[in-house]
Amino acid sequence: MANYDVIIIGSGPGGYVAAIRAAQLGLKTACVEGRETLGGTCLNVGCIPSKALLHATHQLHEAEHNFAKMGLKGKSPSVDWKQMISYKDEVIGQNTKGIEFLFKKNKVDWLKGWGSIPEAGKVKVGDEVHDAKNIIIATGSEASSLPGVEVDEKIVVTSTGALELAKIPKKMVVIGAGVIGLEMGSVYARLGTEVTVVEYLDAITPGMDREVQKQFQKILAKQGLNFILGAAVQGVETTKTKAKVTYKLKKDDSEEVLDADVVLVATGRKPYTDGLGLDALGVEMTDRGQIKTDDHWQTNVKGIYAIGDAIAGPMLAHKAEDEGMAAAETIAGKHGHVNYGVIPGVVYTHPEVATVGQTEEQVKESGRAYKVGKFSFMGNGRAKAMFAADGFVKLIADKETDRILGAHIIGPAAGDLIHEVCVAMEFGASAEDLAMTCHAHPTFSEAVREAALACGDGAIHM
Ligand code: NAI
Repeated sequence: MANYDVIIIGSGPGGYVAAIRAAQLGLKTACVEGRETLGGTCLNVGCIPSKALLHATHQLHEAEHNFAKMGLKGKSPSVDWKQMISYKDEVIGQNTKGIEFLFKKNKVDWLKGWGSIPEAGKVKVGDEVHDAKNIIIATGSEASSLPGVEVDEKIVVTSTGALELAKIPKKMVVIGAGVIGLEMGSVYARLGTEVTVVEYLDAITPGMDREVQKQFQKILAKQGLNFILGAAVQGVETTKTKAKVTYKLKKDDSEEVLDADVVLVATGRKPYTDGLGLDALGVEMTDRGQIKTDDHWQTNVKGIYAIGDAIAGPMLAHKAEDEGMAAAETIAGKHGHVNYGVIPGVVYTHPEVATVGQTEEQVKESGRAYKVGKFSFMGNGRAKAMFAADGFVKLIADKETDRILGAHIIGPAAGDLIHEVCVAMEFGASAEDLAMTCHAHPTFSEAVREAALACGDGAIHM
């Protein structure tokens, strides 16, 4: 039993970042984690392992589709699924051990076990109760359930089961065309699985810029993903080895059935706050089951803070990280801040999709006069050399002031390119500021500059 300035419950990207920052600021810090390894969903069963499988299968795609064009002849590689899974596990291990190292380096204590809050100022882990002047809840989220669908993580899986299937399925039905559905759907489509994505709305990736949605769907369809849009899944029936997915088309209420070896349920996530004792503490929740916080991430109970997927806002690792840092800074008496207007979102398919700020639809609805600068990767020499010319950069700027309002990129390395625009937006830059900045040639980044030029007197290579 010990006395801490701050105890963080949960060691995902929100929690571990909060812990490291708190310790750096001189606070005596501990982090509670019940998993065998640190890093939460992101490192163990989310962002990191999915990126390993996306990388491996993208290499396979390149070998199958582009090597011969470049004069690289010979048999395409065959897939050793077991080896691919152990490569993924190795990547997880390296990353989770990395956090353990950072905890030691920064003198953050790892309290092993599941934590609860018996009263403000105390955290219980196993049989021990520790004193904490401040508590940060960073317990993340879990897959939401769907009525009529029972997850067994073998035939009917969430993203967790999809990362360790016993074998590559012949047919997969993905419920939900959001980020998880499309990333994991891409992985299996590249491995030869017949993938059908069933989506309730009439477009994929809800909330994204409409033009990006359309182009993204076209590209994924070309890669072999089938889409059934405007369809609500009603239920899934399973036998020992197979599943039947029933869905209803919104346009005429007709019911259809799809066969599958594996069904991936990717219909969103919900805050995970079970077992913390929040009810008894009187911690206020939103009607969506999120922990309610003020502008400084403090709940209605003094000294108890909450960050990341457990509170409102986009469920993104980097949003949680920023909140973790800011909450730690607030506790240390500094001025923690998160600019919620500039949080990028990335889908790690190939091509990647990245977005920041407002979509064209949002700007239009706000009634603000705006202009759009667009540049296709077809005009980017580097992209053409790499068979990566599908997609575009779209920049939206205020018509009068030229201030950048949003950027939407579908194309090679979009997830990295977006940050140039994020920095520009943080500085309140205009499209002209980007356009006047020298960009190295030949790089994908030139497409961002060209889109900025297209907001003014025109792009050069279009
Ligand atoms: P999501 O919210 O992105 O998408 C869920 C989709 O399922 C929606 O399009 C919804 O309309 C559809 N849906 C819901 N019920 C349905 C039904 N009965 N039939 C058909 N379609 C239905 O959720 P997802 O993909 O599960 O991801 C969960 C969270 O994790 C998201 O907040 C996402 O941002 C985050 N995440 C982020 C990643 C990244 O940043 N690259 C990677 C993976 C997850």
